[in-house]
Amino acid sequence: MSSTAGKAKRLRDAHANQTVADAVRPGKKETIVGSDFVAAEPIKWPVQCTIGRGLQDAIACETQIGFVNGARGILSYRGYDIFDLCAQSTFEEVSFLIINGYLPSADELKQYKETVASLRPLPRTLRALGALPIEKMTPMAALRVGIATLRQVVTDVDTQSPDPSHSIDTDADTVPDVTPDSNEDLEVDRAIPATTTLGRKDAYRLVAGMATIVAAIARLRKGLLPVEPRPDLSHAANLLYMITGTVPDEQQARIMDIALIVHGDHGMNASTFAAMVVASTLSDLYASVESGVGALSGPLHGGANEQVLYTLESIGSPEKVKEWFKEARAKKKRIMGFGHRVYRTYDPRAKVLKPLAEIVTQNDPELSTLFATAQALEHEVIEELGDTKNIFPNVDFYSGMIYKALGVEPAMFTPVFAVSRVAGWVARCLEYVKDNRIFRPRAIYTGETSRQYVPLERRGSTPKGA
Ligand code: CMC
Repeated sequence: MSSTAGKAKRLRDAHANQTVADAVRPGKKETIVGSDFVAAEPIKWPVQCTIGRGLQDAIACETQIGFVNGARGILSYRGYDIFDLCAQSTFEEVSFLIINGYLPSADELKQYKETVASLRPLPRTLRALGALPIEKMTPMAALRVGIATLRQVVTDVDTQSPDPSHSIDTDADTVPDVTPDSNEDLEVDRAIPATTTLGRKDAYRLVAGMATIVAAIARLRKGLLPVEPRPDLSHAANLLYMITGTVPDEQQARIMDIALIVHGDHGMNASTFAAMVVASTLSDLYASVESGVGALSGPLHGGANEQVLYTLESIGSPEKVKEWFKEARAKKKRIMGFGHRVYRTYDPRAKVLKPLAEIVTQNDPELSTLFATAQALEHEVIEELGDTKNIFPNVDFYSGMIYKALGVEPAMFTPVFAVSRVAGWVARCLEYVKDNRIFRPRAIYTGETSRQYVPLERRGSTPKGA
């Protein structure tokens, strides 16, 4: 076992009293507040729950993909604890697990790796991206365009007349997994109606393609040509290779691999929900993923890891943390990389990433100062906000400095998050459409009623606040 895997295992052992099986025991009160609800018996919809603003604690669907217990800091994919997966698995195994529901056999893993590797080269998509002013776009905006372009290249549906035999009954709300499963070259023109692009093969293509598109954006924005993917490298190693142009060493590749594993899926977070809302309209998996990318762009979601790095750089050194924090609190600033809608304790993903950040930053004076500054900030935040507001580091606090140490520039941190989270997006969309119901919550109307319509020529200036 590598030293990083060993460290992750020791971390898991230190928290061995918090097992997934224990946390998902039905009827445990703490699993209901701020965490995924565990059913004691088959759910009979509609269910009753208390809903806060921002849909807090709303139960929107059933899932067998991932489980989060925010009170105890537990995260699992398909029943496997995140610490076990980080210690023993790879992103290829974990993405297969998230999408298919079980750990692959050796043969299945080999085949899956070959499929993903065969889906990495996207010459037409990258050519189209290369023709755009990528350097003028935010990387997340470019990523949305990249995914839309991939969809267009794959389906070419908008230039074909739809095949009526593919049309679905308007009463049929549920989509079977209809995409062909063969390992043919998928970057070819094919007339697939939009509604059939909700299949497992599309899921694999998006997992593979996301890394290629993200890496291409990282290079195009610097005026560099994209690097051809290498089928012989792991997903993590190939991602770093395509971004930096250099094959990472074993430790760097493994650290990236673990970073990908911890970001793979995370309950009904904003981007996953956004993707599922789009899938529930029976749009397609590409449009769903594009929406996930849009939601992930925000600084309150995936964008926080980039902000964390800027914060730490602007603080400068551990000695300056106390003063910076005092001022930030006085200005009621949110400290990026802290707090979470679900976790009321230390985010287990941050627990995995912190020691990796220490390892990967230790030989570089600038990076080790960054790590020391982060530790000092963590100390201040937990001391003041840990007990009172349950605010602890989240996954974004240590991920940014890991990516930086691995040669990824800050503007690309959130796209790299998407390279991994795409597994959760596609898995949850595919799971949901199997028993689909279009998402349609409601709002409480607090506006005026019964206003008299005033014709344009009689209207005065715009009322204040409008
Ligand atoms: N720094 C300071 N105070 C905070 C922070 C923070 N980072 N986060 C929450 N609080 C306070 C907040 O001011 C509020 O205080 P009060 O009760 O006095 O009004 C209280 O904690 C509850 O906050 P909230 O806004 O109701 O919490 P939320 O569940 O709506 O928001 C959050 C969760 C992640 C948006 C929020 O914690 C935040 O803005 N954190 C900083 C951004 C960040 O790191 N985001 C990455 C999240 S993890 C990656 C992901 O899953 O996307």
